[in-house]
Amino acid sequence: MALSAAMDLIDPGLAYHHKRVGMMAGNLAAAMGLPPTEIARATLAGMLHDIGYLGRDEGAWTPDERPTDRSARIGGRILSIAGFTRDLSIPVAHHHLPWAQVKGANGLSGNDAILAQIVHLADLTDRMLDRVSPLHPQACAARVRIDAFDENALAPSVKAAFARASAADAFWLEAAAIDLDRRLERLAAPAASQALIAADMTEFGRLYSIVVDARSVFTATHSWGVAAVAEAMGAHAGFSHDTVVALELAGQLHDVGKLAIDVAILEKPGKLTPDEFAAMRAHAYYTEVLLRRVPGFDDLAKWAGDHHEQLDGNGYPHRHTQDDLPPEARLLSVADRYVAMTEDRPYRRAFTPGQAIELIEADAAKGTIDTRFAALLHDHLDAIDGIRREAQLEEQRFVAQILADE
Ligand SMILES: [Fe+2]
Ligand SMILES: [Fe+2]
Ligand SMILES: [Fe+2]
Repeated sequence: MALSAAMDLIDPGLAYHHKRVGMMAGNLAAAMGLPPTEIARATLAGMLHDIGYLGRDEGAWTPDERPTDRSARIGGRILSIAGFTRDLSIPVAHHHLPWAQVKGANGLSGNDAILAQIVHLADLTDRMLDRVSPLHPQACAARVRIDAFDENALAPSVKAAFARASAADAFWLEAAAIDLDRRLERLAAPAASQALIAADMTEFGRLYSIVVDARSVFTATHSWGVAAVAEAMGAHAGFSHDTVVALELAGQLHDVGKLAIDVAILEKPGKLTPDEFAAMRAHAYYTEVLLRRVPGFDDLAKWAGDHHEQLDGNGYPHRHTQDDLPPEARLLSVADRYVAMTEDRPYRRAFTPGQAIELIEADAAKGTIDTRFAALLHDHLDAIDGIRREAQLEEQRFVAQILADE
């Protein structure tokens, strides 16, 4: 659910598109008589089908002009990062292809090919609907258009299931339902309960951070750098093992709210205007909101959401003061600043580690960040900076594989 919520933030114009596609895909799988686990897989694949879109490349497409399938292939590779999304990878990677190509693709097992077609059709259908004019005439028109697809475009069994399922008003009404989240949770439950037990949080963090970082060249390796620095600082500071692990994850996820920020702002070559900067600042707020949706993430969501807060109350988004900022949040904000300073930005070159720690200690002296963590970073600067560089190189290689044109 949290992943899909993050997807909805990528493009406000597509808000709820992913959930509606998930709902229709689940209902189509049910109409085909697939078992509950496959219905769940169709639902989740539908909810996450645009994960490789990353807010750039192809842009929007209409039912009449096919999308290129690069973003679908990237999405498939992103989903293969984590064990709990791996079985969505192949259907998502193939969801832009017509049936003639899906059925001929190498190594696609029966259900994967059908699920790819189900997601394809659900995506296509949702794009035929505007969310303004009356639903019924649009539904009728969509049924006519889809009925005209031949067996090269759409698998006959999926087309037949759509004809049956979409004859019911409920098929269309459900996709627009106000309790969309509850219905989706029910459809996805057989996969989700399995997924949560198996979920390796490191993989979860990797998957999210890649989606965030791959959107901008300037921060392409930022999350893994912050994660590694936060982990190393946490260990030196003597936090418990569990807290150190949580700090690493918080580092990986601290900028996940950037999914809600326009790529044009993230990538702007130059200083942001005051309005753009205000829009950018919202990312910390969205980070907290998104992470709070994940069960068990309450502390982590606060630390991550507070990474731009300052002890003197001049940070954002809450203007918290020191009483509201636990040590973990203070540590994370020092780690974030340090890594950001060692990276190029559109408006300045990277600082050296020595310059960065000087600036951080000056900030600490001014009372904006915690002197204790600034000193700790200073004391272990060489070791921690080595760890940072290694982690950022690792992410760079990882992202290159995901975005590779094969
Ligand atoms: Fe889509
Ligand atoms: Fe940030
Ligand atoms: Fe950051």
